[in-house]
Amino acid sequence: MGSSAGDSTNSPRGPRLTTLGAKTHIRQADLAADFDAILAIYKANRWSHARHPDRLRIALERADLALVAVQDDRVVGFVRTMSDGAFAVYIADILVLPDVQRQGIGSRLLRAVLDHYPMKTFHHQVLIAERDADGFYRRMGLSAVGAFGLTAFIRTRDDS
Ligand SMILES: CC(C)(COP(=O)(O)OP(=O)(O)OC[C@H]1O[C@@H](n2cnc3c(N)ncnc32)[C@H](O)[C@@H]1OP(=O)(O)O)[C@@H](O)C(=O)NCCC(=O)NCCS
Repeated sequence: MGSSAGDSTNSPRGPRLTTLGAKTHIRQADLAADFDAILAIYKANRWSHARHPDRLRIALERADLALVAVQDDRVVGFVRTMSDGAFAVYIADILVLPDVQRQGIGSRLLRAVLDHYPMKTFHHQVLIAERDADGFYRRMGLSAVGAFGLTAFIRTRDDS
């Protein structure tokens, strides 16, 4: 993954390993070993990134942090971020395989990300919630920008 993701293993703000039950854990993604499984998670959730594997690989290579959730040796969840390493982080994607959603995997992945970017330093933590996913982020303690009198702007196209 990106250099800072690789370097962060030994940094004070490196991701914590999290145990989910007996056989599930969160670890840094290994692009060579995990790419096919990560691509499969995008496909299973019908995300348009899956139609562009070469671009997805670039996105993963340049991620500031990329984590996978592994259950019984099967990669079942993924999250990646972009960051300036100083003030801001953008949580780009978080996905869990449909057959294991609502089992606490997404929340463990997001918690690992939030722990990696302490609010004391990274006071600008943003993401765009997919339709129907906002309840997940509210459950995790995040707020919609409107709660702070802010407005988020976006330039995009319908890529569904
Ligand atoms: C959104 C997603 C990552 C959540 O992962 P998950 O493993 O299913 O979530 P968890 O089991 O950790 O859920 C944590 C809490 O959020 C709630 N939650 C999860 N998904 C939710 C949703 N879509 N709407 C409302 N609440 C949700 C859970 O009920 C749980 O609450 P609880 O602790 O009171 O039981 C996962 O459902 C997913 O991959 N969805 C498809 C891809 C997607 O939309 N990703 C988000 C991009 S913005």
